[in-house]
Amino acid sequence: MKFVPNMTIQELKSTFLKDLAQLYPKEEIQSFFNLLISFKLKLTRADIALNPNQIILQKDLDFFLNAIADLYKEKPIQYIIGETEFYGLPFKVNKNVLIPRSETEELVTWILNETKKKRPKTQDPRLTILDIGTGNGCIAISLAKNLPDATVFALDISKGALKIAQQNAKLNSVDINFVEQNILNTNVMLSGVEAFRTGLVESYESEKLLSLKFDIIVSNPPYVRELEKKEIQNNVLENEPHIALFVDDNNPLLFYDKIANFAKKNLNKSGQLYFEINQYLGKEAVELLKQKGFTDIELRKDILGNDRMIKVSF
Ligand SMILES: C[S@@+](CC[C@H](N)C(=O)[O-])C[C@H]1O[C@@H](n2cnc3c(N)ncnc32)[C@H](O)[C@@H]1O
Repeated sequence: MKFVPNMTIQELKSTFLKDLAQLYPKEEIQSFFNLLISFKLKLTRADIALNPNQIILQKDLDFFLNAIADLYKEKPIQYIIGETEFYGLPFKVNKNVLIPRSETEELVTWILNETKKKRPKTQDPRLTILDIGTGNGCIAISLAKNLPDATVFALDISKGALKIAQQNAKLNSVDINFVEQNILNTNVMLSGVEAFRTGLVESYESEKLLSLKFDIIVSNPPYVRELEKKEIQNNVLENEPHIALFVDDNNPLLFYDKIANFAKKNLNKSGQLYFEINQYLGKEAVELLKQKGFTDIELRKDILGNDRMIKVSF
């Protein structure tokens, strides 16, 4: 084992600033350092300022030196500490799931505002919600947390993602019905799927799932075209799961097409379908939905002014 001499908090901070200076601005390195210290040693920024000479124990030092090496390789800080925050809630993340983005928080805000406007009274019948491509469960779980009377289903093709999503449902004390399913293969859906509820496993017969009607269907599916790869930062390309990000250049709206078909059959009367979309394909996505016979379609921009989400009312 390599021997590393003891370091104080102050010395460790200087090591972070020196070793990562070529890659990140000083403020970002400081924020990484504070996050890592808070995660590993449970110390606040005030604790750090008041105790610069506190010695970091050898057993903890390895964690920090590995974190510097990971940050040097542009690994996102969320993957290093294995957690992040979404809509004010804690979420675990790992290499099987995308790190949730702030645009998606905007989509959740839109859904919650619309739903509370439509259903101001809690005695209304229970809402049924389906999140397609749930990843770490961020959309489904934040909706369940804020709409405690809703029955929420969340579907993904990835077993690894569903495992993390289940942990996140427990972490946030909500019940979600998780379904392992390829949404592009709706024929398989006819022959049966397995669904498992937080903690306890249940089987859903095909007819049961297919006959379910939802008040809200939401999806943030893969939507980045291969041709946009050059715009994507290295830390995303090398760390986040490509199955969550990329679609074929020749059929970039494939998921929207399949999900809209599913929604036509499985949305309740006066139900709503929400999508997060590729900022460059807003008009095309609206056109596709019109061709499917939807008429009440709203395209909305995110806080940066990019076309980012769509609401379709049935
Ligand atoms: C853009 S990520 C969204 C994750 C999460 N909902 C969020 O908003 O951060 C897309 C998700 O779709 C899932 N996915 C990809 N192909 C799929 C398919 N054919 N059927 C179902 N889910 C799929 C991926 O595993 C990934 O979790």
